[in-house]
Amino acid sequence: MLARQKPPVVRWGVLGVARIATAKVIPAMQRACHCEVVAIASRDGARAEASAAALGIPRAHGSYEALLADPGVDAVYIPLPNHLHVSWTTRAAEAGKHVLCEKPIALNAGEARTLLEVRNRTGMRIQEAFMIRRHPQWLRARTLVDAGGLGDLRAMSGFFSYNNDDASNVRNVAAFGGGALLDIGCYLVNTARFIFDAEPARVSGVSDIDPRFGVDRLTSMILDFDGRHAIGTCGTQVQYYQRIQIVGTEGRLELEIPFNAPADRPCRLTLDRTGDVHGSGIETIVLDTCNQYTLQAEELSRAILDCSPQSAPLEDAVANMECIDALARSSRTGQWEPVKPAR
Ligand SMILES: NC(=O)c1ccc[n+]([C@@H]2O[C@H](COP(=O)([O-])OP(=O)(O)OC[C@H]3O[C@@H](n4cnc5c(N)ncnc54)[C@H](OP(=O)(O)O)[C@@H]3O)[C@@H](O)[C@H]2O)c1
Repeated sequence: MLARQKPPVVRWGVLGVARIATAKVIPAMQRACHCEVVAIASRDGARAEASAAALGIPRAHGSYEALLADPGVDAVYIPLPNHLHVSWTTRAAEAGKHVLCEKPIALNAGEARTLLEVRNRTGMRIQEAFMIRRHPQWLRARTLVDAGGLGDLRAMSGFFSYNNDDASNVRNVAAFGGGALLDIGCYLVNTARFIFDAEPARVSGVSDIDPRFGVDRLTSMILDFDGRHAIGTCGTQVQYYQRIQIVGTEGRLELEIPFNAPADRPCRLTLDRTGDVHGSGIETIVLDTCNQYTLQAEELSRAILDCSPQSAPLEDAVANMECIDALARSSRTGQWEPVKPAR
């Protein structure tokens, strides 16, 4: 009798015992096809051991360097604070590991661009962890827009906020790349670029800077896609809330929980093609329950194993950072800023 072959898997290691990793991403990766989480590292060996034991991860390393030297690791997930993304992504790729790095992939576009050279030189996959891009609600929204289901796409508006003024949180540390725009505004930019399937020519941003932390606690933006507009607000010291509206000449689509889509219940999209303000013509699209972090891990693992393209290549991450840079510039200058300044 033939021995049953084990399906091919990517063996993942994790750099840092971060909250997002232990609470959401690692458990989701452990349920993903083609994926095995085999190691976790911390700057503190005891923390790595404790986390490995709690999550059922076979190996714990007392330094990030030790995990990168582990020959049984094919790819690493990097959930470190933002200012460490580029340096550890570079070191991981140079150690022969593929990389899934948390958003935002860099502090600015210049830093992000250096990763293109790293990827080309090492041949490793490098992907920014915008898990939303794998979620069926966003794929459905894009398909509907592309098929003309809203008529001609004209506008998009988004909101993403939470309330956290803990000075020790990485989001409130300027040197770590904190602030609303980098932490959650990046989703508004990413999804606008995805739905319009284009880059904005110019942007306008306005930020309120927290005097204690020196990071933006409220940023609002307009992205001008040649006469079609995406507007958005992100805030770190207001009530937790998120919503997206996509509006065309003949319809409107609303994403109820666009970013932190729940893994334990279906997502709902609201489609209104009647324009009746009382909502009599509203259709609700209910999507199957899924875990966007699992889908993210499966997609990248499959791409690594099959040598197939990623749905969001590194160039997309660089373009997102270009737009974020322009918004930050605009909030300083008070002017519209072109997204790709002359270099
Ligand atoms: N995709 C998403 O849904 C999502 C959600 C939340 C956050 N994120 C992203 O994930 C990243 C981490 O966020 P988080 O809230 O999980 O952060 P966190 O809980 O503060 O964890 C960051 C980890 O980085 C390590 N680290 C290394 N140097 C550090 C330093 N100088 N200061 C602090 N920590 C340091 C620490 O691990 P050790 O001490 O164990 O080495 C720490 O546990 C950020 O880039 C954030 O934007 C993504």
